Amino acid sequence: MKLKVAQTKQEVALNFSRYLAILIAAREEVHIALSGGSTPKIVFEELAANFQEDIDWKAVHLYWGDERCVDPTDDDSNYKMTVEYLISKIEIPKENIHRIKGENEPDYEAKRYAELLDDNLPKSDGGVPSFDLVILGMGDDGHTASIFPHEIDLWHSDKLCEVAVHPDSGQQRVSITGKVINHAQIVTFLVTGENKVDKVDEIINKKGDFEKYPASLVAPNSGNLIWFLDAAAAAKIT
Ligand code: 6PG
Repeated sequence: MKLKVAQTKQEVALNFSRYLAILIAAREEVHIALSGGSTPKIVFEELAANFQEDIDWKAVHLYWGDERCVDPTDDDSNYKMTVEYLISKIEIPKENIHRIKGENEPDYEAKRYAELLDDNLPKSDGGVPSFDLVILGMGDDGHTASIFPHEIDLWHSDKLCEVAVHPDSGQQRVSITGKVINHAQIVTFLVTGENKVDKVDEIINKKGDFEKYPASLVAPNSGNLIWFLDAAAAAKIT
């Protein structure tokens, strides 16, 4: 596990964007699972504004680690946010965009997306579809992707995708499972804000109820786990 701590959210976005540009430049084809949330939004803005010349998006295939079960035009849609802040501003072939179809019936979509991952992604040694990079956020309840503490068993599913339910809103989500996340070549967390400071401390220092938080289960077999944090979220671990 590596920690990269920057003072501000903007610096986290710059650090991650530089990291991503180097990773993409080193590969012919890159399969990346994106996250929703406010921190990725800042990264997408940074990539669109300052990394147009640094990244050959034709080599990149974009997927999502989770999606809300809403139309792609809905303000809650992770895909819609990504189109607004990134996809609409870069030269990426539309056939390289592999969205979770939130408008579909959730159980059907979980199966469809699992098949898409199985068809599209290189396989790990164990035959599990393996992303080059999974980008994750972490909720202040310790959830990641859309695996929430009250449904932590979904993390251990033998399936590649599961249907989850947000604990407060009841909104259904389609999420990749721990099986997919921990078979990725690289996993990065993008976590910022003082509201994350306690969970970051508990998870990284394995304190308190850390095992109840899905984010604590992120441990890629490859060993390549990097936390990109701002000073506020990292205040108790540095
Ligand atoms: C989602 C995200 C979710 C997000 C966390 C952190 O669909 O809501 O995938 O897992 O990463 O809630 O969100 P922030 O970055 O906004 O804190």
